[in-house]
Amino acid sequence: MSQTRFADVRRFESIDSTNRYLLDEARAGAPEGVVAVADHQTAGRGRLGRSWEAPSGANLLLSVLLRPAIGPGERHLTTTTVALAALDAIGVVDPRAVTDVSIKWPNDLVESSGRKLAGVLAESDLVSAAAADGLPPPVVVGIGINVNWPATDADLPPELAGLAVSLCQMIGAPVDREALLAALLGALEPRVGDLDSVEGRARLAGDMASHCSTIGTRVRVDLPDGSFEGTATAISPEGHLVVTTGETTRTVAAGDVVHLRPGS
Ligand code: BTN
Repeated sequence: MSQTRFADVRRFESIDSTNRYLLDEARAGAPEGVVAVADHQTAGRGRLGRSWEAPSGANLLLSVLLRPAIGPGERHLTTTTVALAALDAIGVVDPRAVTDVSIKWPNDLVESSGRKLAGVLAESDLVSAAAADGLPPPVVVGIGINVNWPATDADLPPELAGLAVSLCQMIGAPVDREALLAALLGALEPRVGDLDSVEGRARLAGDMASHCSTIGTRVRVDLPDGSFEGTATAISPEGHLVVTTGETTRTVAAGDVVHLRPGS
């Protein structure tokens, strides 16, 4: 682990949010590669202003500070980078379980029935980032992986019933969080390196396409100015979702996607 850029791993028994912590560190000029890992978060952040809950000591809750030298239009690839690295890491820990895991565009890891195994949240603060002398603007990417919680479906609160699954449930035995963390940090190094070049970014988009269960699925895309339905047909070379609605084809750079089942 020490030969990668992710050697500075800061551990917290309890913290409000590892993303919040690293955004503050970034404002103070922290370099790329700082990692924050928590046993428990009191105000874990999810996408779209949601919260991210997990019991203490059960799951992997971490954030990494990246400073990729890429433009604003490519920053969404940081989410792809971490989602792919998480998939790589699950493959290291259990090569069989990973065959049942895919990426729901843009940022969830799901198992084959669609239940969520992990979520990724990228946050940046471009205004105050300008203050950090000479450093590319920061992007903090957090990931929560359901490792040992839920242990059974009965552990889930009613609002998550049927919607979440853990690695432990998929494998049928508890999973070593430290082994998964080490595998994730190891996998991040080449994936983050790919952000630096045109070929690397194309590889990230291509790998996303080959692991993305959204392709071929009927979807509803929720955008700030409304929703539309269609069939997801591809991931563009830029990592955007291509959706055909029948009459037109739309390319979605950012948005929330719901996989629709027949009749829904
Ligand atoms: C999602 O809504 O799917 C994204 C969830 C991201 C949760 C992780 S847990 C570690 C990091 N710190 C946070 O506050 N959120 C992310």
